[in-house]
Amino acid sequence: MCGIIGYTGKKEVSKILVKGLSRLEYRGYDSAGIAVLAKEKIRIRKKKGKLSVLRDDLKRVPIEGHVGIGHTRWATHGVPNDVNAHPHADGEHSVAVVHNGIIENYREIKENLKKKGYDFLSDTDSEVFAHLISDNYNGDLCEAVKTSIKEIKGSYAIAAMHKNEPDRIIGARMDSPLVVGVGEDETFLASDIPAILDYTKDVIYIENGDIVDLSGNVCSIYDSDGQKVERDMVKIKWDISQAEKGGYKHFMLKEIFEQPKVLHDIFKERIIGDSVAFEELVIDEGVLKGIKNIAIIACGTAYHAGLTGKYILEKHTRIPVWVDTSSEFRYRDPLVGENTLVVVVSQSGETADTLAALREAKSRGSKVLAICNVLGSSIAREADGVIYTHAGPEIAVASTKAYTAQLAILYLFAYYLAEVRGDSQEHDKNFLKELKKLPASAEKILRQYHTDENILEKYAGEFHEYYLARNNKSCFLYLARNVNYPNALEGALKLKEISYVSAEGYPAGEMKHGPIALIDENPWVVCIAVEADTYEKMLSNIQEIKARGGLVIAITTEGDTEIKGIDVNYNIRVPRVPEMFSPILVIVPLQLLAYFIAAEFGYDIDQPRNLAKSVTVE
Ligand code: M6R
Repeated sequence: MCGIIGYTGKKEVSKILVKGLSRLEYRGYDSAGIAVLAKEKIRIRKKKGKLSVLRDDLKRVPIEGHVGIGHTRWATHGVPNDVNAHPHADGEHSVAVVHNGIIENYREIKENLKKKGYDFLSDTDSEVFAHLISDNYNGDLCEAVKTSIKEIKGSYAIAAMHKNEPDRIIGARMDSPLVVGVGEDETFLASDIPAILDYTKDVIYIENGDIVDLSGNVCSIYDSDGQKVERDMVKIKWDISQAEKGGYKHFMLKEIFEQPKVLHDIFKERIIGDSVAFEELVIDEGVLKGIKNIAIIACGTAYHAGLTGKYILEKHTRIPVWVDTSSEFRYRDPLVGENTLVVVVSQSGETADTLAALREAKSRGSKVLAICNVLGSSIAREADGVIYTHAGPEIAVASTKAYTAQLAILYLFAYYLAEVRGDSQEHDKNFLKELKKLPASAEKILRQYHTDENILEKYAGEFHEYYLARNNKSCFLYLARNVNYPNALEGALKLKEISYVSAEGYPAGEMKHGPIALIDENPWVVCIAVEADTYEKMLSNIQEIKARGGLVIAITTEGDTEIKGIDVNYNIRVPRVPEMFSPILVIVPLQLLAYFIAAEFGYDIDQPRNLAKSVTVE
């Protein structure tokens, strides 16, 4: 995790660094710092807390200069405090470094350096980089970095400067993202594109093992063998306004409301007549025809999308599908090989466990398809084929639009695969038609919650009061069946991530095998009871909860009259769609419910405690 940035050019650097860091705060936000090089001196300012603390400090006492590096931290080694914050420097402040990643052999390196007389100030692994580069420095920073990274085991994206080299920043990467931005008379380094999009749209993705040498507007790149290489420059199509709040109070709310458009764009781009086209998917049709099973691997919300993908793919392709969390898959000697198509799902494309799972699958002979949001991310580049979700930048830590975009792609992929294999079912005729209706239905759901009579805000307010009245002791249970079961998990995850209220998702049929013991007047039970083959069974579950004094929020289909006969406490309605397509709609009010509850508590919704958007460490 952590976000890094570097700039060399003619502009005042502190402002550029702080602005860039504000766009990287989603990667970590427990402390932040910058280092500026001017007049052969490196000056460092770093502060515990959100970026605003550093920003205020710099307003009081500015640091001037035209070359600098910056960092926003998500602590791995050492508690968040001023000393552990980056940048780190060697004892003489000759070298300053920012680092994203984990140095696995830092203890060993630290001991060696200590024996040589280097004093360490922090508890971080990253500080060794500063001393190591200093130790290897013989008048050329690029050479010192090249030598230093040979000694490092682990993951890193770094930016380093030396006081004797006034216009120069050296970057390097291994398993942590790094991009170069090329402007007029200026160059940038950053963990992610939004950090530099105010200044340039010309971007170069740095490969694993590469070293980047930036001097003014000149960018030279060397591969892991030290050979000078050319990497393609890419023009970024999206705008910085897409990475801003656009009038919404939080990114999360903005991203929830963007979902109809994201879905609309996905279907418009991918559905051509009666067919589905993925122009970037390079896995050969022959391979897709030959696969015997599919493994979907992902983490967190993307894992929940994968679980839904199992229902969709099995129904439409009749190929057996299993789903695993990346961290389990990678360590359990998984049974995959040439006959398995491994589908990895990741918004960021940088999740360490998912990347490792992808490599594991490839090493066992499987073809890997990535469903990714971030263009040019490590997962997208290492997979054999990729389908981009094109949902635009997702900034809020709690994933929303990326989830529905992943679902949309999984529907389309199921259709595509069935077509390629020539086993499309009769009911497929309406498949694409139904998909194309979803954006308007999602829009219809959202419209109701843009008014003063927002029932979800009301429910959230009532829950908040209820919670406080019970000395902060209440929780949520989410129950569903079949294709909506993963939504029960996702609804619960959204709530716990941003409101810190304990929440669990369960298949409703499992209720009698344990969770029913929780039911008294305490947990609020969200029951997804939309029109479905198992609808009557969901109604029975609701009756069982009510009979035990439980409090039920039912998600039902518009026009459902049966639910009126049961005295549910709250009712949320979604438009009528065939059961298979309902997950994309059902999740929308669940995301909003989580949002409004967190808002009632007054929490920092976009940056919940202990979390980071991109989990680049395992
Ligand atoms: O970038 P990825 O999709 O690989 O991230 C996976 C999870 O870290 C992510 O979905 C996480 O669970 C979100 N915070 C959920 O809202």
